[in-house]
Amino acid sequence: RKDLLELARLDRGEIDRILDQAVPFKELFTRSVKKVPALKGKSVLMLFYEPSTRTHSSFEVAAKRLSADVTNFDVPHSSVVKGESVRETVETLQAMRTDYIVVRHGRSGLPEMIARQTKASVINAGDGAHAHPTQGLLDAFTLKEVFPEPERKKVLIVGDVLHSRVARSTTNIFLRLGVEVAFLGPGSLLPKHGAEQVKRFTDYATAMAWGPDVVYLLRVQMERQDVQFFPSLREYHRVYGVTTQRLRELDDKGIWLMHPGPVNRGVELCDEAMDYHRSLINRQVENGIAVRMSVLYSLKPGGEE
Ligand code: CP
Repeated sequence: RKDLLELARLDRGEIDRILDQAVPFKELFTRSVKKVPALKGKSVLMLFYEPSTRTHSSFEVAAKRLSADVTNFDVPHSSVVKGESVRETVETLQAMRTDYIVVRHGRSGLPEMIARQTKASVINAGDGAHAHPTQGLLDAFTLKEVFPEPERKKVLIVGDVLHSRVARSTTNIFLRLGVEVAFLGPGSLLPKHGAEQVKRFTDYATAMAWGPDVVYLLRVQMERQDVQFFPSLREYHRVYGVTTQRLRELDDKGIWLMHPGPVNRGVELCDEAMDYHRSLINRQVENGIAVRMSVLYSLKPGGEE
């Protein structure tokens, strides 16, 4: 496979291979093996039109650990600000013969457009509300560390599911691993169609009565004005956030906590939740490196065999 654009295009075998291959990459990492020569001589271009901390830095670390050369395309200081289109930008960068392009953009479908234009392997690092496939993969990897047999485990995804690329990719992979998924959020922010087997809740207590093993909080996307449906962020926290009281309930019931980051403290999660002993948030970040190493290692630029 040349590109990773969305998880729905990967068959179960490909997903299992990426997740299985990430295990030895993580072991290397924990044994302080800093580099392997797997992608020596290859080049990775980071093309981020939207801000990112985790995805950008973990792809960069992953590529360097595989001995690839990494170029960061600095959008604010590029000819993009002079009006150069994505197509022209990619053609220019393609002339530099890069092997992999890791792209994040606010427009859904843009990584696919780039993939059609270039021989480089294109990896979608998040496009609009469409997909964030490596987030889905690292979430699945993290869930499987806690539940090696994840079939019939229950994950409750909370927040603005409708506009979340994380929810889309993570739901896709969890369902394919046999996980039961439910959504909790305001009715207007839950998808009406698709994934018929996914339960939808609008009330926190009712959702908790469903018996989740994991509560997965989505980030409130301040930059996309998700919260316009709420009178205030404090009100969002009261209705859908993990408050101090709800954190105690999670602990009493042995429920794990996930969040893709960055966390809005006091909105999705209370301060104490950051130190919750069943929080997987830091582990998700850590696993992102091994999973992204596995993704880079799996793809074949230019259709190489
Ligand atoms: N989870 C995630 O995509 O985080 P960043 O925006 O920091 O990359």
